[in-house]
Amino acid sequence: MVDEVSAGQAVELAPAAAHEVFGDAWPRVDSFADMLVAEGELRGLIGPRELPRLWTRHLLNSSAVAGFVPRDVRLADVGSGAGFPGVVVALMRPDLDVHLIEPMERRTAWLNDVVEQLSISNVTVHRARAEELHGVDSFAVVSARAVAALRKLVPWVGPLIAPSGRLLALKGERAAQEVEDARKVLRKHGLQQTTVHEVVVGGTEEPTRVVEAVRARD
Ligand SMILES: C[S@@+](CC[C@H](N)C(=O)[O-])C[C@H]1O[C@@H](n2cnc3c(N)ncnc32)[C@H](O)[C@@H]1O
Repeated sequence: MVDEVSAGQAVELAPAAAHEVFGDAWPRVDSFADMLVAEGELRGLIGPRELPRLWTRHLLNSSAVAGFVPRDVRLADVGSGAGFPGVVVALMRPDLDVHLIEPMERRTAWLNDVVEQLSISNVTVHRARAEELHGVDSFAVVSARAVAALRKLVPWVGPLIAPSGRLLALKGERAAQEVEDARKVLRKHGLQQTTVHEVVVGGTEEPTRVVEAVRARD
């Protein structure tokens, strides 16, 4: 439903199902949406066409990752941009220690503002490319959305995944083809058991695809 207008722009209203999807996180996810509406386009974080699909395409889509993350682990969201899916997952899963890895200064400044304004205590923002953390740190879960095709993404994120850890990549309709195209690099980085999960998130019509690839124990 699109019937709110902010600075002349149509803004999608949260579907009723969003309250249920986000549960206890709802008030802060709603505040995050307000921040994006007020500043997202102005600060060059989201394009002009995104506000009319802010909930369905971005916030609810990001929520699909949360269900695949084990409890009490460290998660790195690579290429967080405006905060998708990392900020949403951190708000939904206060048990996680979330690290947002983003190289662009303008975007890390925004992410730090979000963390401060929403008083998020389980997020650390790193201004870095994923490759700069190779051999420096590793995580039980690495998430990514809209950063690069899997074949290109896996060499960036593979070395950040701890033994027995997993990659969770939010992908579009071509998810299965991307997995096929990335077979060789997935194997090279010890990523096995690759599954494309089709998740139907409440309030959205299109299924969300989460590619899960689990790293061998070593
Ligand atoms: C198209 S944006 C997507 C942002 C967000 N994940 C989303 O879904 O809206 C891609 C982001 O990945 C970041 N990025 C590109 N290469 C990267 C790398 N090697 N390591 C970490 N982040 C990277 C870019 O700076 C950009 O913010």
